[in-house]
Amino acid sequence: MAVRRVAPPELQPKDFAFTAENTEWAKKQIAKYPAGRQQSAIIPLLWRAQEQNGGWLPEAAIRHVADMLGMAHIRALEVATFYTMFLLEPCGTKAHVQVCGTTPCMLRGAQAIFDVCKKRIHHDPHHVSADGNFSWEEVECLGACVNAPMVLIWNDTYEDLTAESFEKVLDGFLNGKPVKPGPQIDRQLSAPIGGPTTLRTVKA
Ligand code: FES
Repeated sequence: MAVRRVAPPELQPKDFAFTAENTEWAKKQIAKYPAGRQQSAIIPLLWRAQEQNGGWLPEAAIRHVADMLGMAHIRALEVATFYTMFLLEPCGTKAHVQVCGTTPCMLRGAQAIFDVCKKRIHHDPHHVSADGNFSWEEVECLGACVNAPMVLIWNDTYEDLTAESFEKVLDGFLNGKPVKPGPQIDRQLSAPIGGPTTLRTVKA
């Protein structure tokens, strides 16, 4: 797990402000919370700021959101650096790959996924590929252990991966035709591989 810090100053935009449309949206989110609890809206606001900024969260955006919520900047920074859903450095324009490196995924072959990332994207995490299309990082359990190994790209998970199927996932993003999220083998969600294993006979 990498240390989570904001990007170096040379990569940071000087300013950030929500668009008019996002400002309206943010006000509606804040209004959902009872008086005195407006700071609870920080996660959705940071998420929207990240989307507006092309997939990563600059320091100026963290400050902007903190100001909207009347919070100390350090409190917003604590949230942004805690959750790996917030990317603190510039990422690939087509896909940022978060590879689960926790024990169940490692036991089921996550190392092969890391090897593909190193070969196709960059040897090191948190670096954008030479063509600007991809970046990757290791994260902890993403809650899809039964479909290990898996990755998260933007809002979707790609599961039951092999090196070959993961390469196809990357090709899909590269060509603008992403493969279907979820299991990349013949399996219904997290149901047993090969079909049902229990309750297969029904007595009249
Ligand atoms: S260990 Fe990888 S999703 Fe849980």
